[in-house]
Amino acid sequence: MKFSHPLMHDNFSSRDMDAVVKLLKKKDKILTQSKNVALFEKEWSKWLGVRYSVFVNSGSSANLLTMSMMKILYDKGEVILPTLTWVSDINSVIQNNFKPVFVDINPMNLCMAENDIIKKVNKNTLAVFMTHVQGFNGFTPKLIAFLKEKKIILIEDVCESHGATYKNKKLGTFGAVSNFSFYYAHHMSTIEGGMVCTNDKKIYQLARMLRSHGMVREIDDKKIENKIVKKNPTLSPKFIFLHPGYNFRNNEIGAVIGLSQLKRLNKNNKIRTRNFFYFLKKLDKSKYRTNFITKGSCNYAFPLILKRANFKNRDKLETILKNNKIEYRRGNAGGGNQLRQPYLKKYTKKINLNNFKEVEHIHFFGYYIGNYPSLDIKKIDKICKILNSVKYGY
Ligand SMILES: Cc1ncc(COP(=O)(O)O)c(C=O)c1O
Repeated sequence: MKFSHPLMHDNFSSRDMDAVVKLLKKKDKILTQSKNVALFEKEWSKWLGVRYSVFVNSGSSANLLTMSMMKILYDKGEVILPTLTWVSDINSVIQNNFKPVFVDINPMNLCMAENDIIKKVNKNTLAVFMTHVQGFNGFTPKLIAFLKEKKIILIEDVCESHGATYKNKKLGTFGAVSNFSFYYAHHMSTIEGGMVCTNDKKIYQLARMLRSHGMVREIDDKKIENKIVKKNPTLSPKFIFLHPGYNFRNNEIGAVIGLSQLKRLNKNNKIRTRNFFYFLKKLDKSKYRTNFITKGSCNYAFPLILKRANFKNRDKLETILKNNKIEYRRGNAGGGNQLRQPYLKKYTKKINLNNFKEVEHIHFFGYYIGNYPSLDIKKIDKICKILNSVKYGY
């Protein structure tokens, strides 16, 4: 179906195309991971404000790589996870044999609820894997202080929140590791792609190895590499596999697109933020939630959430969206409450969904619609007029 208001529009500019063509026209070119990947990682680190970044082939690969690093470094423990997140945040935890512990959301930012996290921390808690949902910051001073005091590892999923901040510092600079996605409709895209970011040199070297089969030659420090080579005299120095890794590499085409898109990321984020606040201003507050905590937020898709839990209202909204060719996804991030998904059955048998009321509301009555840089105020006026015209029942 051709949408009048899609989730994303025109995310590949003529400048992006020129950058790719320039690369392809080069003689003796290397298109697999090479200089442009290294340059994109450097520029991304500079933009974000971290020491190290590792470009991978998706945000999900970034998640899996991160939890595999946690397995190597810490072996076991509980990981506190959101119920509203992308599936790979949870998969990466269970695939590495950590125990998932689930938390309900704060309805005002869709991120894990501070008090529920604190309640579920115990002596076995290894890490909190925070997803900053749909551009909202999930941190609070109380949570940050608590995790620091308890020495709990903080991991950030910033796949939906490039450029959002907490205390004027970009999200993705607080955790031991932070992950980004450059998938189609996100703040910027490299076709497929993700980034693992850290300030920790040991984590950085590990991430580089795990991205490429666990190979020691990927270590970015000759001293460390030589030490390991010396310890393994029977092995070919170029083929020492220190840990069970993956092939999560991206390539030069993704990197030049990333470099090109990064140049307009701040500008695009400004437009998206303007649009986000305009949606909030124009939407009928008696029908849709507008009382979000917006400080530091940087939204890429507008969260359209019905105020009332009413299935007839939901059907009316979906009919209006369909009839007006407004593309939408129900369940906000990742299709709603992950606890309802079949892949998690083994872990959710004893869970009472009544203890997850906020994510349950989003599961049935929460949506997102597009908020992309070419969207203008006039069009938002039109969309809000349509949305506000729906006659909901009580
Ligand atoms: C919060 C979150 N984490 C992780 C991912 C995974 O990213 P990717 O699609 O690049 O695998 C997504 C995907 O959209 C996401 O929204």
